[in-house]
Amino acid sequence: MKSRLTHLPVQDIEFQPDFAADFISEFIKACEKGKSGRDIYHSWKVCILTYMIGKKMGLSDFEQRELFFASLLHDIGGVMVGGHVVEKLTQVPDVYGQKNDFLIFAHPYRSQTIMRSFPTFRHVSKIIGAHHEFYDGSGFPSGLKGEEIPLAARMIRLADTVDVTMKLHHIDDISELLQFLHFSVGEEFDPTVFEAFRELVLNASLLDKVKDSAEIERNMKNIKGEMKDTYYFASPDTLNRFFRMISIVTDNLTSPSSLHSLQVSDTAVQIAGLMKQPDTEMMTIRWAGFLHDIGKLVVDRSVYFKKEKLTDEEWGQIRAHPQLTYDILNCVNGMDKIAFYALYHHENFDGSGYPEHLKGSKIPLGARILHVADAFEAMTSNRVHQRKKDWQDALDELKKNRGTQFDPEIVDAFVREFG
Ligand SMILES: [Fe+2]
Ligand SMILES: [Fe+2]
Ligand SMILES: [Fe+2]
Ligand SMILES: [Fe+2]
Repeated sequence: MKSRLTHLPVQDIEFQPDFAADFISEFIKACEKGKSGRDIYHSWKVCILTYMIGKKMGLSDFEQRELFFASLLHDIGGVMVGGHVVEKLTQVPDVYGQKNDFLIFAHPYRSQTIMRSFPTFRHVSKIIGAHHEFYDGSGFPSGLKGEEIPLAARMIRLADTVDVTMKLHHIDDISELLQFLHFSVGEEFDPTVFEAFRELVLNASLLDKVKDSAEIERNMKNIKGEMKDTYYFASPDTLNRFFRMISIVTDNLTSPSSLHSLQVSDTAVQIAGLMKQPDTEMMTIRWAGFLHDIGKLVVDRSVYFKKEKLTDEEWGQIRAHPQLTYDILNCVNGMDKIAFYALYHHENFDGSGYPEHLKGSKIPLGARILHVADAFEAMTSNRVHQRKKDWQDALDELKKNRGTQFDPEIVDAFVREFG
């Protein structure tokens, strides 16, 4: 069956101007959790520090927005199944070691590649790709030097090292930190950027703005308030491809079948078509498919690849993901419907699912559709604990669970079309 995606009227779905800042910041925060489950806030801290440096150095509003998004996204390619590049950087503090560590060396390029395909993010992606370049040309990956490195990337370089250094050396004392960083001025850091930073630290207590989670949350909220933007997602197609990119990042980090969310999204759109849903609803379901499992990024991601039997606690973590997806999306204006579809995508028709044991028509239709699409994708792909079923076996399984796990009407429509 031909997907109706290309005909969907994306422009009917409007997001507020604060959407880009809200969504990207919440998504990045979700990706940055330490082993203990606490927020690392690395990119948020970098964002707050560079915001202040940018203001001090007189960037225009547009440049300030570019700096904001580049700071948030600079390490998106450094989110790994087993952790985050910033944790690795604290173990490999010198640049020679970093260049020899493939994951560290490649992460600016990976971040750049992820963002490069979006025309409105093209310059942001250039900044991101250069965030480990050193002022004297000894950084990586390209060995750019001085003015060849975008100014915003030079600001991120400094803020990035400030966060890593404070973590690594447990430095709380400002003069000790400045002294430490001073050794690298003219080598790692642009002297002008460092001077702006130094003045801010001494005269405006810059580091207090990132000292604890309450301060970080408060300052980020204020900065986001200034980042109202209709440029980055001005084209509906960009927004669609952006959610698709998020689904690929999620699948890479959480799903042994590497296209899980993409395929769930495709199948769900096809089912929505069979259920005669209006086009705007199909678009909502498409995006809910892309985003339904982003909550999986929040827990220890290695659990999804574990071959041994899972403990009760690990199962608990896995079962928390619909709620965690909801928590991320619920912070973003305009995503309520998608948030609810994701929250209920593991509810069973007879009330035996989770997290709220909803039953029948109490479960939104979008969520019932996702549930069938999700199960079908899971059955027809190879998983850690289960080999894939063939198409017919998977259809039989849907029929077997018609009315218990799945909405019977959806199963009937699906089997009629694909059986
Ligand atoms: Fe980095
Ligand atoms: Fe970083
Ligand atoms: Fe799920
Ligand atoms: Fe899923």
